[in-house]
Amino acid sequence: MTIKQIIFHLTLYYDTKSKPTKKSINYKNLTQHISYMDYSKLLNLTRENKDYINLNPLQTAGKLTAPAKKALIEFGDGYAICDFCNGILDEIEKPPIKTFTKEILPTFLNCDTVRITNGAREGMFMIMHALTNPNDTILLDDNAHYSCIVAAERCKLNIIKVPNNKCPIDAIDTALYEPLIKKHNPKLIFLTYPEGNYGNLPDAKKLGKIAKKHNVPYAINCAYSIGRMPVNMKDLGADFVVASGHKSMSASGPIGLIGMNKKYENIVLKKSKDNPNKVIECLGCTSRGATIVTLMASFPEVEKRVKNWNEELKKAHWFAGELEKLGFVLIGQKPHKHDLMFFKTDILYEISKKHKRKGYFLYRELKKRGIIGIKPGHTKSFKLSTFGISKKELTLVITAFKEIIEENKKLLA
Ligand SMILES: Cc1ncc(COP(=O)(O)O)c(C=O)c1O
Repeated sequence: MTIKQIIFHLTLYYDTKSKPTKKSINYKNLTQHISYMDYSKLLNLTRENKDYINLNPLQTAGKLTAPAKKALIEFGDGYAICDFCNGILDEIEKPPIKTFTKEILPTFLNCDTVRITNGAREGMFMIMHALTNPNDTILLDDNAHYSCIVAAERCKLNIIKVPNNKCPIDAIDTALYEPLIKKHNPKLIFLTYPEGNYGNLPDAKKLGKIAKKHNVPYAINCAYSIGRMPVNMKDLGADFVVASGHKSMSASGPIGLIGMNKKYENIVLKKSKDNPNKVIECLGCTSRGATIVTLMASFPEVEKRVKNWNEELKKAHWFAGELEKLGFVLIGQKPHKHDLMFFKTDILYEISKKHKRKGYFLYRELKKRGIIGIKPGHTKSFKLSTFGISKKELTLVITAFKEIIEENKKLLA
C-alpha cells in the first residue's frame, strides 16, 4: 500500500479525534476506498517452498501424482462434478465415481461400503453422530487426534480415554480396553492407527477381537495408514475405517473416506425423508469438485505404493539409524512400524540455547538447504516422515543435520 493510500484510509475512517460511527462513514468515499485497495497481492500466487524436500508428516503422502495434477486443472472450476450428477454423487458414472466408490475402494479396504467424505474428521463425526445419543460414552485412545475429540464433543458424548501406560515409548496396550468396556458400557470404540505424534501402531486386530466379544462397534482412524500401508478392515475386525485423502492418498484436500460393514449402512447412510437421494450424515453430498477427481487420479499409484510398504519401512529404519548416529533418539516403537517418527534431539536443543536465533536456527538452516517440514522453533524434539522421499533426498537431509551440528559445535563447549 502506498503512503497516499494509507493517508486516504486514515482520513476515510477517522476524523482527527474520534473513532468512526455509522454516521461518520462516508459511503460515497467507501466505494472509492474499495476501488483504491491493492489487489495485486492476490494475483500470481505462488508457493515458495513447493519444490523443497518436505518432511512434514501431513504432507509427505499427500503430494499429488502427475495424473492428479492434470485432473485438478480439468475439474478445478467450482463444483465441476455436478455437471454429471443426477442427484447422487456416488452414482456418477463419468468420471467413474461410482466404480471408484462402489467397487475399487471397497476391494482395496476389504469392507462392504465406502463413501467419500471431506476428511477423516467428517468420517469420525458421521459415525459418532449416527450411532450415539448425547451423553452416551465412547472409548478413545489417549493419543486420539483433536479432530476425533471435537467430533465427540460436537455429538455431546462422554469421552473415556484409554490411558497409554507406556506413552510415549510404545503403542497403546489394547488389553486396557477390556476393563473399561465392562465399566463404562461404551457405545463406540475408536482407535488411532497409527497416532499422529509418534507413529506408533497399536494392535488393532487384538482390539477388534475385544470389541467383537463385547459387541461394541469399533472404528479405526486410519488417517495416517490408508494410502500408505495395507489396511484390511475385516481382517482387523473393525466395523468402520476412516481415511484422509489429503494426508495419505495424494489428493487435494479436504477429502477423506469412510469404509464400513454392511450392518451399519442403513444407520450411517440413512437418507433424508424430504430428499430421498441425499444421505443425512453427509449433508446430502460431500466432495464434488477437484478433490474427488484428484483422489481418483492418484489412486492407481497409491495402490501400487501400498504394496511397496515394506520398502518404505526399510527406508524409514535406515534413516532413523543414520539420525541416531548423530545423537538423535527415536522415541516410540522399536523396530518402528511407520514412516512417521518422533526424535528427541538434545544436541540441537543445546545449540539453540546459545544460538543468536534461539530455537529458530534449525528451521532457518534447513530451509537454506532446501528442506522444510520441521516446525519453526522446534529443536528439543520433532516429528517427521520419510514417506515417498527418495533415499538420495534423505541423504541430503542427513548431511544437512550433520553440517548444522558441525557448524555450531563451538556453541556446545
Ligand atoms: C491422527 C490424525 N487423525 C485425524 C486427522 C484429521 O484428518 P482430516 O484432516 O482428514 O480430517 C489428523 C490430522 O492431522 C491426524 O493427524
